[in-house]
Amino acid sequence: MQSLLAFTILATVFSNALASPTKTGTAKRATCTVDSVSTASDLTDCSSVVITAFEVPAGDTVTIKAASGASIEMTGSVEFAFTSTSGPLWTFDTTDATFTGNGFSFKGNGDLYWDGEGTSGGTTKPHPLIKFEGSGSFTDLIIKDSPAHAISVGTTGTSSFTNILVDNLDGASLGANTDGFDVSASDVTFSGNTVYNQDDCVAINSGSNIVFENNFCSGGHGISIGSIATGKTVSGVTISGNTVTESMYGMRIKVDSDATDASVSDVTYSGNTISANDKYGFLVSQSYSEDFGTPGTGSTISDINFTGSKTTVTTSGSYPRVGVDCGKCTGTWNWGEIDATGGESSDLVLGGGVVISGGTY
Ligand SMILES: *[C@@H]1O[C@H](CO)[C@@H](O)[C@H](O)[C@H]1NC(C)=O
Repeated sequence: MQSLLAFTILATVFSNALASPTKTGTAKRATCTVDSVSTASDLTDCSSVVITAFEVPAGDTVTIKAASGASIEMTGSVEFAFTSTSGPLWTFDTTDATFTGNGFSFKGNGDLYWDGEGTSGGTTKPHPLIKFEGSGSFTDLIIKDSPAHAISVGTTGTSSFTNILVDNLDGASLGANTDGFDVSASDVTFSGNTVYNQDDCVAINSGSNIVFENNFCSGGHGISIGSIATGKTVSGVTISGNTVTESMYGMRIKVDSDATDASVSDVTYSGNTISANDKYGFLVSQSYSEDFGTPGTGSTISDINFTGSKTTVTTSGSYPRVGVDCGKCTGTWNWGEIDATGGESSDLVLGGGVVISGGTY
């Protein structure tokens, strides 16, 4: 009797051990290697993913959908063949992933596309090159020569992007619409990233609880909130410790002139060093796509503050160093810690009754 019981227990333990991988479906393969488009196709039970060097052929796209909590790393660079496929060409759709590119690149071969027309004409340009969905922490990655927009952030859980380099330096003459980070997401932190490009370094289109800190932007159109379209809201943004150089604009908040049911609120700038070499050093506009025009009144902008450490803005072009073109801006904005110089006198249209206190501009 006793030996039968022991046998039963043993047999049960043994069969469970054998059966559990297939029965529960939660078993994790030790490490999954992605070295081609096909090997990326089913990673849902992979808790560890290694991406080696390979080329994504024309017509193909890749989505990395690993197990929740997966560690993902690159051991080589991924190159995208010239293609007319629409982007994103590569998507991370992960939950709580920990990703490191180990300094390797996604090579977009932008020079094969750049014709000065960006996304509004000429050669079809896949964009964005890379999209992030789901959630995770993403570090040490290079995006080299994106045809147009480099990175789209559409994460749905707390995420961070650190030490990412968008290197579109070679697009200086013919690259266009090569946005660094386009963000429609909440609970995201960007820190220590570098963007060389020909459009917005970052464009925050919607979301809340967003931190953009200690990043370096060069060659593009600066740090932007917007453009904000109808129905979109941005709130709770901290922009601190960043450097913008060699850029057309310094920093902007731009809301479509015809936007309704839209708002930008609670944006705090602190300790940024900004230089604009052509247009406004800092611009708040409800006239987008114009810089200054007839501002819309269907959206609201409130609580735009310069506090904490001093933000310096210098403009070398012949535009106002600061422009505010408001149809409906409200409340009192604390600009105690902005010091703007250069360019022409600031131009303020304070529709909506906003009061701006403090600052030098
Ligand atoms: C911005 O400044 C105003 C005026 O001092 C203040 O009432 C508001 O709370 C500040 N907003 C933020 C997000 O700090």
